[in-house]
Amino acid sequence: MHNIAVLLSGNGSNLKAIIDKGINISFVASNNSKALGLKIAKNANIPSYSWKNISEFEEKVLKLIIEYDVKLLVLAGYMRLLSKNFVNSLPSKFIVNVHPSLLPKYKGMNAIKQAIDDCAEYTGVTIHYVDEGMDSGSIIKQNSIKINEIDTVETLRDRLQAIEHCLYSDTIKSILIKD
Ligand code: GAR
Repeated sequence: MHNIAVLLSGNGSNLKAIIDKGINISFVASNNSKALGLKIAKNANIPSYSWKNISEFEEKVLKLIIEYDVKLLVLAGYMRLLSKNFVNSLPSKFIVNVHPSLLPKYKGMNAIKQAIDDCAEYTGVTIHYVDEGMDSGSIIKQNSIKINEIDTVETLRDRLQAIEHCLYSDTIKSILIKD
């Protein structure tokens, strides 16, 4: 199976789920040197990198993609918008993202809080290709769940992440098998 690379900014629970699924990861990169996801990568002996400066980050990641012959770039809690130049340097359908809402609803940061504040009856998880916009690329898969009256951002996040961990790694695997 082809290799992927993962970009992240935080905890890396989706990275962990992807590793556990047996998907080959060439490298992990973060804009945040303290991201727990980098520790998960190191523990799994996956080369890991971090650069804070956005242009340096994107320049280095593009070089690594070529060096490692990466076939799919996976955003797993990467909380910064990729530049148009970066996205356009790669083939279409090369970058995928997971987002905790039923896109096109509740784009951007705090998607779970946005759904609660909006008194939405349902929310969910979206896996989509990444284009130049914010959470706007074509949708690959969605799963929805009902928001309960007693749900808080934390309880809803836990339920959504449990879905993400299966849905994202399964989707990545099926994209790699198809290519
Ligand atoms: C995930 O829940 C993902 O849906 C969200 O960040 C979390 C990262 O968790 N992504 C976004 O909100 C993107 N706009 P993780 O670091 O534990 O995988």
